[in-house]
Amino acid sequence: MRLPRTGKVPFGGDYNPEQWPEPVWQQDYRLFDRARIDLVTLGVFAWAQTQPAPDVYDFTLLDRIVDRATAEGRMICLATGTAAHPAWLARAHPEVTRTDFEGRRHRFGQRHNSCPSSPVFRRLATELARRVAARYAGNPSIVAWHVGNEYGGACYCDRCAAGFRDWLRLRYGTLDALNEAWYTTFWSHTFTGWDQIEPPSALTEHWRGPDHTAFQGITLDYLRFMSDAMLATFLDEKAAIRESSPDVPVTTNFMGMYRPIDYHRWAPHLDFASWDNYPPDDSSPSWMALTHDLMRGLKDGQPFWLMEQTPSHTACRDVNPLKRPGVLRLWSWQAVAHGADAVLFFQLRASRGASEKYHGAVIGHAGRSDTRVFREVAQLGAEFERLGAATLGARTPARVALLFDWDSWWALELSDGPSRLVRYQQLVLAYHRALWDAGVDVDVVAVTAELSRYDVVVAPALHLLKGDVAGRLAEVAGRGGSVLTTFLSGRVDENDNAFLMDVPGPLAELMGVRVDEWDARGPEFVNPVLLGSGADRVEVAGRLVFELVIPEGAETVGTYQADFYAGTPAVTRNAYGAGDGWYVATGLDQAGVSWVVRRVLDRHHLIGPYPDVPDLETAVRVAGDGTRLQFLLNHRAEPVEVTARAGAVDLLTGDRVEAGGPVTLAARGVLVLREDS
Ligand code: GLA
Ligand code: ZN
Repeated sequence: MRLPRTGKVPFGGDYNPEQWPEPVWQQDYRLFDRARIDLVTLGVFAWAQTQPAPDVYDFTLLDRIVDRATAEGRMICLATGTAAHPAWLARAHPEVTRTDFEGRRHRFGQRHNSCPSSPVFRRLATELARRVAARYAGNPSIVAWHVGNEYGGACYCDRCAAGFRDWLRLRYGTLDALNEAWYTTFWSHTFTGWDQIEPPSALTEHWRGPDHTAFQGITLDYLRFMSDAMLATFLDEKAAIRESSPDVPVTTNFMGMYRPIDYHRWAPHLDFASWDNYPPDDSSPSWMALTHDLMRGLKDGQPFWLMEQTPSHTACRDVNPLKRPGVLRLWSWQAVAHGADAVLFFQLRASRGASEKYHGAVIGHAGRSDTRVFREVAQLGAEFERLGAATLGARTPARVALLFDWDSWWALELSDGPSRLVRYQQLVLAYHRALWDAGVDVDVVAVTAELSRYDVVVAPALHLLKGDVAGRLAEVAGRGGSVLTTFLSGRVDENDNAFLMDVPGPLAELMGVRVDEWDARGPEFVNPVLLGSGADRVEVAGRLVFELVIPEGAETVGTYQADFYAGTPAVTRNAYGAGDGWYVATGLDQAGVSWVVRRVLDRHHLIGPYPDVPDLETAVRVAGDGTRLQFLLNHRAEPVEVTARAGAVDLLTGDRVEAGGPVTLAARGVLVLREDS
């Protein structure tokens, strides 16, 4: 477990000079100087140039690119270049392309399209990684290795089918165990030979799309297998790199909340995590906060790299909004506030042709520096230079954990019933948003994470329970912490089979409730929920799923207001040990979620300094020497003034801030306050 050694936050990004004649490189580097760009990610899609034919490795171009970056004194994040296989390879070995969910064998085209079970692909990708590493390992400018790119998708070919059967043999040992796990007595599915097992696809178990399966257990295992199969190709390349480069950290760029790949299963194999931040729309600060927290949680709170973000706009969406002035800076600092130790772009110079020619870049087609985007990039570059090493390695002192679980995500969204409208990301986002609004630092962690350091653990839709998670949650409450979970939790075991007990299964004792039945309604239907009592009462909306809860020790905190279950509990709190378990039985609106979350936080005095200033984000990082860095991020397009909680120095301006004194943040402004010790 290690991070690249850098003296400051690396600033730069994907750079593809192979697309340009060399005189343009000269122009690029002079512009990089002006923007303080000190890191370039090279060779991400260079396979066809580096290996133009089966037995020909030609490093002429990559040598020139790497030598130039080295001579220019830049740090290099060097890619193995295996994310897009060359045309000759697909032609010579059709097995390297994927077969899709509909069973169509693809031909050469696009990228991220190699079958992870193809021995030819694995051999040649590994060999390329080996040769790239051997050639450049001695270059001290290389601070990180970048394997592949944005692993994802799936393959359903015969080789993957065979790989799936091998994976199942390892997991279950016997067909009896597999039949039991998959519940195959249902619909006459008993398997009597391993070769009878098919990948779950449109040709086999799926009756609508990838989420509509007749056998959840089979589909769940295929998702796990595919995630592992791709991980195996990453590991091949990593091992090949290690033959000549024992110390330089290895990563691959993740995609945040990306459903097909279980990043928790991958994370231990990366030296450090990195990810590409392309939020779903242009007003998603809380979505980004959650995703940064998830990426930081992958490696036990160790800082991560922001490997890509656009300086201005994407090209792949139907509509590609432009980042408004100040947003690039604000979002970059937000990444740092949540644990990023590098801020990088896709990309440094815009492509001239093909699908990304309109994707934003630091340097556009005209090669100018007198553009708004370039100026903003350069200003940010100057800030990172001024900041130096202050944030590197600093940790987030979170006392709140939010559990995020790919298995639960998959199981929930593969499920027939109670409702297809419940989306895992949306639910997690609502709870994280409530924490974010309250200004509390949150670690977003796997269900296997060590929970002893947290006062509060929030587990929205913990649908699938595996390992000893229920026991460990009970321990959190037992020693005085609070655990919050929601409807559709504690439903199934790790094979997606229902627990033979009351819902919420092994969580029932901690929650002090049993769910007797449940109702699901369309998005337009609201059952009002009355929360609290006396002057404190507030009515919020419940939607989508309504569990009918019978308290078994828990007190009722909120009640449904309509239908035949009017007056029955919708939110409960159960005293458990020295702490408590909170159960939210319906899809509360954001106001409702926030009301509950603030109650929970209040009990532990965890509400942040400015919970009532909308869109003012706060985050803390603590450096190795104990220095506290407080980040203030104003996501509004107008200024805001608050009162400083501690004496501090703003690291971006050098200005002093006095405790109790006023602090003004410009529209979309950022302060990085080093608090007095
Ligand atoms: C991804 C890829 C890049 C590029 C960008 C464009 O993150 O890794 O190669 O395609 O998207 O947004
Ligand atoms: Zn395949």
